[in-house]
Amino acid sequence: MAVAIKINGNTHSVDVDDDTPLLWVLRDVLGMTGTKFGCGMALCGACTVQIDGVATRSCITTVDSLGESEVTTIEAIGSTPAGAKIQKAWLEHEVPQCGYCQSGQIMSASALLAANPNPTDADIDDAMSGNICRCGTYVRIRAAIKLAAQSAGNGG
Ligand code: FES
Ligand code: FES
Repeated sequence: MAVAIKINGNTHSVDVDDDTPLLWVLRDVLGMTGTKFGCGMALCGACTVQIDGVATRSCITTVDSLGESEVTTIEAIGSTPAGAKIQKAWLEHEVPQCGYCQSGQIMSASALLAANPNPTDADIDDAMSGNICRCGTYVRIRAAIKLAAQSAGNGG
């Protein structure tokens, strides 16, 4: 059946079962492959998107649960203030290695920064603990979030 989903400011009507995970719709139906499939069981964070600004695992989020909520993906996060700062800091710290986990990392980090412009180490650990990186970029992720927070604090 047709389901209407708001993604990155556009409404998409997709013909899928109600219980189809959002991740499948993004990648296989809409061709938005920036959001990655890792585990499919809410264990790795590779599939993280934002739903009404909250970092959410799209692999376990069914399309019928979205209602009027706004989905933001990695394709559009750079047009949000927090997302732009996070992406800039990611480049400055050259965070990615293989890159596979990084869409999810950026989505979680951007949600954190938007909700908390001055996160402590504990806040960062809390927000990022569900995002696994097999390449071990955690130190650079933390440094980049702190850099982004500084630039947010300075209004730049
Ligand atoms: S693919 Fe969703 S948490 Fe791993
Ligand atoms: S950069 Fe390779 S898994 Fe994180």
